[in-house]
Amino acid sequence: MAKKVLLATVKPFSPTARDQVVAILEEAKYDVQLLESYGDKSELLAAVADVHAMIIRSDKITAEVLDAAKELKLVVRAGSGHDNVDGPHAKEKGVLVMNTPGQNSNAVAELVLSMMVYMARGKFNGKPGRELRGKTLGIHAYGYVGKAVTTVAKGFGMKVCAFDPFVDSAAMEADGVTPMATAEDLYKQCDYVSIHMPATPKTINSIGKDLLGLMPEGGTLINTARAEVINDPEIVEVMAARPDFRYITDIQPAPEVQAELTDTYGDRYFSTPKKMGAQTLEANVNAGLAAARQIVDFLDKGVEVNVVNR
Ligand code: 3PG
Repeated sequence: MAKKVLLATVKPFSPTARDQVVAILEEAKYDVQLLESYGDKSELLAAVADVHAMIIRSDKITAEVLDAAKELKLVVRAGSGHDNVDGPHAKEKGVLVMNTPGQNSNAVAELVLSMMVYMARGKFNGKPGRELRGKTLGIHAYGYVGKAVTTVAKGFGMKVCAFDPFVDSAAMEADGVTPMATAEDLYKQCDYVSIHMPATPKTINSIGKDLLGLMPEGGTLINTARAEVINDPEIVEVMAARPDFRYITDIQPAPEVQAELTDTYGDRYFSTPKKMGAQTLEANVNAGLAAARQIVDFLDKGVEVNVVNR
């Protein structure tokens, strides 16, 4: 009997990317099931019942979902962050979780720089704004996305610094990036800081007034990583205390914080209506196809790559 593979995307891929993903899985003779833009968790619980593998995005794969998936062997998160999957519970059940690191980095990088330009030009209000050239950008966490942001920022003539306790200074220097010894140094020295860390117990709520208060006049924070890493009450405090400070994000905070930031600081705050860093046709194709190939390699040949729940 053909193996069953589910593509479950509450925020769907572009149809072109989706069709290419399906083509790879069908060529491998799998029975492909699609669950896109679903409304309720119950639909996901029903859809996973008899599938052997699944591709997801930010879809929440909780213990309840994993328990409902009796045949499941592999979950591939088409993307980078996997905080939406209960990895330890999957491991207990013998289910591998993989991601597709780096596949959507350029999409995020282009969004970061375009939002920076938008804010620097006064949201295109027609008045004289500022340029990015010659300004200093700090990358907080120098992974695939941090590197991609660096590449684009250098095209704008920005100086780039980075702080990442898990990356060798030599690797940053090889990319023409100035390594910073501490997060405090990064925030102190950079006009812009762009956050690219995962949400972990250590990073959640870690960006607040202590770091942001160090930023120079006109300091601007960009968050396209995870909403959870920002300390919401403290960012509101910083916006109130510093009329020069600006905040840009593609992941909105809790509704009441979002309302306060928009209503009170609308000229210095910008958020996209939906999380959209990875929302390009190219990123959908890159991440979706990588995920489909990882499934074929695993189900047909036992190849294990990018496993995140060992
Ligand atoms: C990621 O972790 O890969 C990004 O946050 C993209 O998430 P998305 O697939 O929900 O757009």
